[in-house]
Amino acid sequence: MDQKEIIEGLRPICLCKGIKKKVFMKHIAEGIKTVEGLKKATGAGTGSCGGKRCTPRITDLIKNL
Ligand code: FES
Repeated sequence: MDQKEIIEGLRPICLCKGIKKKVFMKHIAEGIKTVEGLKKATGAGTGSCGGKRCTPRITDLIKNL
């Protein structure tokens, strides 16, 4: 893993809960590849915005696999 990948992994996806991209990528690598599945596995979407900010970011993560 190069430095760029490490920095990218630290990018926050769910801002309310402070969940970083690397947490999502770990679950994706384990086979969870749906928005709802990733929300359930990470706790994303349960913050004060109700997932308004992170749902599109999670969707993009899956789209760009
Ligand atoms: S950014 Fe994920 S619940 Fe608000």
